Amino acid sequence: MNPKIEVNDLNLWFGRVHILQDIDIIIPANQVTAVIGPSGSGKSSLLRCFDRTNELITRTKTTGHIVIDGRDLAFEDPLDLRSRVGMIFQQPASLPGSIYENVAVGPRLFGIRDRRKLDVIVEESLTRAALFNELKDRLKKSAGALSGGQKQRMAIARALALNPEVLLFDEATSALDPISTQRVEDLIDKLKSTTTIIMVSHNMQQAARVSDHTLFMNVEEDGAARVVEFGPTDKIFTNPEDEKTERYITGRFG
Ligand SMILES: Nc1ncnc2c1ncn2[C@@H]1O[C@H](COP(=O)(O)OP(=O)(O)OP(=O)(O)O)[C@@H](O)[C@H]1O
Ligand SMILES: [Mg+2]
Repeated sequence: MNPKIEVNDLNLWFGRVHILQDIDIIIPANQVTAVIGPSGSGKSSLLRCFDRTNELITRTKTTGHIVIDGRDLAFEDPLDLRSRVGMIFQQPASLPGSIYENVAVGPRLFGIRDRRKLDVIVEESLTRAALFNELKDRLKKSAGALSGGQKQRMAIARALALNPEVLLFDEATSALDPISTQRVEDLIDKLKSTTTIIMVSHNMQQAARVSDHTLFMNVEEDGAARVVEFGPTDKIFTNPEDEKTERYITGRFG
């Protein structure tokens, strides 16, 4: 297993509230890691540690280290980091403006002005997001008119336009219909050849279907979230070590 992200003794507080406690995990490169666990078990908070967006929330404090390819995130420029680590949210978001502008926004932010370069990036990103053929005749039209599933694949294309090494999906299909969900799952499967993917899901079938490794988080009685179990998805879903994992994946709690 080739490690992409090493998380060492990570702790997170919002104000005085201890949210994540003593997280130690290694996320493998070019695989899909599912993050599962009940509501409030710190899954989104953990994802926000990887692109350092917790620090945009007031009064957060982080200790410990997250190292991507040997580089400690703490010493990176946050904007550069967020170009290498993309996030896809639950609600498919389109920005005002055209489909083209929605995909070009990241490269523009990083100073690419050349129209032909942008054209190539937009086409490649939409192609990788399995959306180009569907939308190629209306790239200059407003993105607002797209369906939820198309908007979500456009959000993926927007992230891909920056050539990210890591993509974070936070319940990215839970607002989508089954066919759009399938498309995003197919996409995740393709993208993992070039990208390390971490995917939060409340859907156990989806986590089992799509991921290679699974991380189960839970909130303990003291209110802080910890890792209960982390391992190959087959093992977590067929023969978990911890009784809490078993109860969660079989739907008996959470
Ligand atoms: N901005 C914030 N300020 C204060 N507390 C927060 C903030 N965001 C999250 N929390 C708290 O952190 C804890 C973990 O929340 P988080 O959103 O990470 O859980 P989650 O596992 O993603 O839950 P869900 O499955 O419902 O999305 C919760 O107790 C939540 O109330
Ligand atoms: Mg969440």
